[in-house]
Amino acid sequence: MKSKTIFACTNCGATSARWAGKCPMCGEWNTFVEEKQVSISTGKVAGRSSNERAKIQKLSEVEGDHTIRIKTGIVELDRVLGGGITPGSLVLVGGDPGIGKSTLMLQMCAGLAKNPPLYISGEESLHQIKLRAARLHNIPDNLMLLPETNIEAIIDSIKATDCNVIIVDSIQTVFSENIESTPGSIVQVRECAALLMQTAKQNNKAIFIIGHVTKEGAIAGPKVLEHMVDTVLQFEGEKLYAYRILRALKNRFGSTNEIGIFEMAEEGLREVLNPSELFLSERRHKESGTAIVAAMEGSRPLLIEVQALATPTGYSVPQRMATGFDYKRLQMIVAVLEKRLGVQLRQHDVFVNVAGGISLNDPAVDIGVAAALVSSLRDTPVDSHTVLIGEIGLTGEVRSVPAIEQRIMEAQKLGFKNVVIPQGNFKKVPRSVTIGVKSVERISLAFAELFA
Ligand code: TYD
Ligand code: MG
Repeated sequence: MKSKTIFACTNCGATSARWAGKCPMCGEWNTFVEEKQVSISTGKVAGRSSNERAKIQKLSEVEGDHTIRIKTGIVELDRVLGGGITPGSLVLVGGDPGIGKSTLMLQMCAGLAKNPPLYISGEESLHQIKLRAARLHNIPDNLMLLPETNIEAIIDSIKATDCNVIIVDSIQTVFSENIESTPGSIVQVRECAALLMQTAKQNNKAIFIIGHVTKEGAIAGPKVLEHMVDTVLQFEGEKLYAYRILRALKNRFGSTNEIGIFEMAEEGLREVLNPSELFLSERRHKESGTAIVAAMEGSRPLLIEVQALATPTGYSVPQRMATGFDYKRLQMIVAVLEKRLGVQLRQHDVFVNVAGGISLNDPAVDIGVAAALVSSLRDTPVDSHTVLIGEIGLTGEVRSVPAIEQRIMEAQKLGFKNVVIPQGNFKKVPRSVTIGVKSVERISLAFAELFA
């Protein structure tokens, strides 16, 4: 074996013989770190004999039912996975340290008691895992545990076990004997993940790998792995808030629009099946500068409060700030309000904030953002029993939005009395709606009524 020094980008995993200040692949600066790499003598990796080689097959002859899903029993997780766990898939669960990845994976085991998973831990001792399991509910007694960090040993165990779901916690702690660099280095992380991918496919077992997201430094972040794995789940949340959001950044077996919402409690993660209730729980009535919008997060409607503040500026160029909302979209809305409604914001700093640290990308919340802004400027509250739905066009028109029925039904379910919707959506309002529906063609008309 011959060892040589290479440089690898911590952002995208590109390797190069020479150090570079800027990665030629992803364009990031200062991401190159030095690593030792051992070129494995030929034959070890490529040494498959001819009867092991893959055959060309007809599509119709391909075996296996690709619609099979193993339900974890955690509704929020199953939805994000695309209906459950797909056998033979490699799933990366990424997130900041301490966000709850190990807890989520351990809780997933509760729903899989019939054929218990194998939990391979390089992070925590078995004793620590047992303590954690005691805190959580329903962790099966027959859950299989293995404290191991050597990837070759891990793969042997995976092949030998009957378990069809395997969790590797974490990818940064495992290493291959054939590579000289330290565990967590890019070369190690990539090689180990590649071996796990192969093992998952060849043995038709689902493997979850936990990866810590690291901003910088020598430890390879899950970014390096994203293109290799089938599914990338990201577990995120603000440290100050108890709830956590599970997002599919990539999914070969389902939609990437879905999110799962959890709350971290004393006894582990709790599913938040009705997030609207959670996000509206701190809402105050009769206050200016707020509006309730109905955004779609994947297939699910989410009612949430947007807040805006317009205050006289002390700068020559007024500030525009958006948290949880697209900054460019805010600029557009401000421009439309100025031009089409004669609202004067040139002398005002404008802040927009989506309650609870959620990010909204759905244009259907435009009208709510605009209403919150005008409400703040005029110090007149928007009726707190009304939900606002509609995209704003450049001429000041209110454009129709998809999934109007689901949005209205969510508002009705949560006890709102009225919804404002785009004219273009009016025909699609179902008969079963019992709350007031006001359809508007232009934002000026909507606001004339809201701020009458
Ligand atoms: P953990 O799953 O260890 O995070 P990760 O694997 O992503 O690093 O979760 C750690 C945090 O979660 C820790 O700060 C304590 C908290 N926690 C609870 O609040 N309740 C619980 O029941 C558990 C198990 C953890
Ligand atoms: Mg952990």
